[in-house]
Amino acid sequence: MDEHLQVARTGIDEIDAQHRKLLADLERLEFWMQKGFGLAATFDALDALLSYAETHFRFEEDFLRAQAYPDVEKHAAQHRDFMGQIANLRRSLEAGEDVARSLADAMRAWIVGHINDEDVEYADYLRRGWPRGQA
Ligand SMILES: [Fe+2]
Ligand SMILES: [Fe+2]
Repeated sequence: MDEHLQVARTGIDEIDAQHRKLLADLERLEFWMQKGFGLAATFDALDALLSYAETHFRFEEDFLRAQAYPDVEKHAAQHRDFMGQIANLRRSLEAGEDVARSLADAMRAWIVGHINDEDVEYADYLRRGWPRGQA
């Protein structure tokens, strides 16, 4: 097995815990795919991941709105683009195209990159902008 996926921490405990769960779901999906347990297991793992991703994105966007993060709409659009991109690949997979590997690779690249770049960016911004004693 690969080493566990690592991403940067935002320093916001609830969000870091959600990121860890998202990565664990992703590793589980990759595990089912590698083991060749077939499409049913792959779709189960994929749909669990997508449903959790949606929960996480909603939580993060609500949190960023509550914190009046100025780039929240841009951030939310990135979440939406990702969900749209994966929904397209999921449809191709369902239609019998051989896209499982590219779907897993796309998810891994986006999730890791998004957390390390965009999520860390809002965390840095909020930390700098938190002189009121929070965090
Ligand atoms: Fe996130
Ligand atoms: Fe995000």
